[in-house]
Amino acid sequence: MVLQEDFLRTRRIADGSVDLVVTSPPYNVEVGYSAYEDNLPYEEYLAFSRRWLAKALKLARPNGRLCLNVPLDKNKGGQRAVAADLTHEARAAGWRYQSTIVWNEQNISRRTAWGSWMSPSAPFVIAPVEVVLVMFKGEWARRERDRHPDIARDEFVEWTNAVWTFSGERATRVGHPAPFPVELPRRLVKLFSYREDLVLDPFLGSGSTLLACRETGRRGIGVEIDPAYCALAARRLDGTAGAPRAVRAAQPEAPVRARTATSTTM
Ligand SMILES: C[S@@+](CC[C@H](N)C(=O)[O-])C[C@H]1O[C@@H](n2cnc3c(N)ncnc32)[C@H](O)[C@@H]1O
Repeated sequence: MVLQEDFLRTRRIADGSVDLVVTSPPYNVEVGYSAYEDNLPYEEYLAFSRRWLAKALKLARPNGRLCLNVPLDKNKGGQRAVAADLTHEARAAGWRYQSTIVWNEQNISRRTAWGSWMSPSAPFVIAPVEVVLVMFKGEWARRERDRHPDIARDEFVEWTNAVWTFSGERATRVGHPAPFPVELPRRLVKLFSYREDLVLDPFLGSGSTLLACRETGRRGIGVEIDPAYCALAARRLDGTAGAPRAVRAAQPEAPVRARTATSTTM
């Protein structure tokens, strides 16, 4: 189900009903979204993050889980330890920390500056990875004896090694400025939920999480503030997406989810 709403305002999801939250929020790196300004002052961005994380916690059932995909850090607009800061905000909102998955996108095209070239003066060091923060409400273990796992042996062995290597998604292929590949939510829902569980993506974008839910037999709710992205998600779900529309991305062919270094120090 796709809800076209501001997640902070929606009242259409029952408190205590969500088994798993899988999402990638705006990264605050000036991505060209249609209905959201992705350039808040950093402290405001963290305050916004704490508000939506608190709301997600309220909607989560006891033992509910959160998989939060964010950059490890960012350079644009100043050096920021985004994953560490959002871990702090999530804990302040009431989520408990379980682990971190490193998603190795192997994408070095995000590099736009070296800092001080071949000098220790002020080099820029960039990891071509994102992370998924795995957190929970109350207790980690789910003790439901009547539920049947659907994950294969090889998937379990491979995915519990928390360095995942696969490519990101292209904005121009999907028609959204910052999609993640369906492979990311597909792994997360199979590893952290049962079939028929209710999965929520409060920042649905182009609908990738709902595609993964449909493929894996989970019930999914996606909230997206922008009507055009809701329509795109609906088209992807009913298989009529066709050729993507133009996207307002800073670097349309680059992985715009990425944070980039933008200045050079000599
Ligand atoms: C990083 S994108 C999510 C991309 C998504 N994972 C995908 O694969 O397409 C973040 C999305 O959050 C949406 N958004 C921003 N603020 C929102 C809010 N308050 N409520 C709901 N959606 C919001 C933006 O319009 C954008 O589509």
